[in-house]
Amino acid sequence: MWTVTVRGEAETQRLARLLGTLVAPGTVVSLTGPLGAGKTTFTRGFVQGLGVDPAVVSSPTFALVHEYPGETPVYHFDAYRLDDPREFAELGPDEYFDAQGVCVVEWGERVRAYLPPDHLKVELAPDAGDPAVRRITFAGTGDGSQALVARLRAAWEGETG
Ligand SMILES: Nc1ncnc2c1ncn2[C@@H]1O[C@H](COP(=O)(O)OP(=O)(O)OP(=O)(O)O)[C@@H](O)[C@H]1O
Ligand SMILES: [Mg+2]
Repeated sequence: MWTVTVRGEAETQRLARLLGTLVAPGTVVSLTGPLGAGKTTFTRGFVQGLGVDPAVVSSPTFALVHEYPGETPVYHFDAYRLDDPREFAELGPDEYFDAQGVCVVEWGERVRAYLPPDHLKVELAPDAGDPAVRRITFAGTGDGSQALVARLRAAWEGETG
């Protein structure tokens, strides 16, 4: 587990972009944090690291999943508007998880039961004192995602000193 404090949307996106350059196909990322914490903002940076135009990322308000084609496709889910987590299961999420793309799930804790055992949890916590500050915690739930957290930390600390 690793926590880093960032200031401003641009720094959140820089961190997310770095993560996007490090993920292997098949990775599932669960984003958590309150309304407006920066989950969609993080997703924009993340897809950029995978070579996808961040401008295509919107909040999947009317669709539960958006697909962004690319060398490694990204599947962007938003579980916020689900009345029941079983609606997520009805999407057949395993087909997306196994598709050799990368999956990002906003409000992932709401559908935790349907996520693969090894996934990366990213929690964005706003700061009570400064509206531009976020504490971002990365936690792997298995060997692959824990190794990813270690790679991200080393790369970030290498960049920021
Ligand atoms: N350090 C920061 N990181 C991310 N967003 C920030 C930061 N500082 C300020 N913001 C602002 O916070 C807002 C985050 O909105 P965003 O849509 O990304 O949140 P969200 O978690 O996806 O919300 P929702 O729960 O509605 O999906 C944006 O307006 C963004 O500019
Ligand atoms: Mg959002």
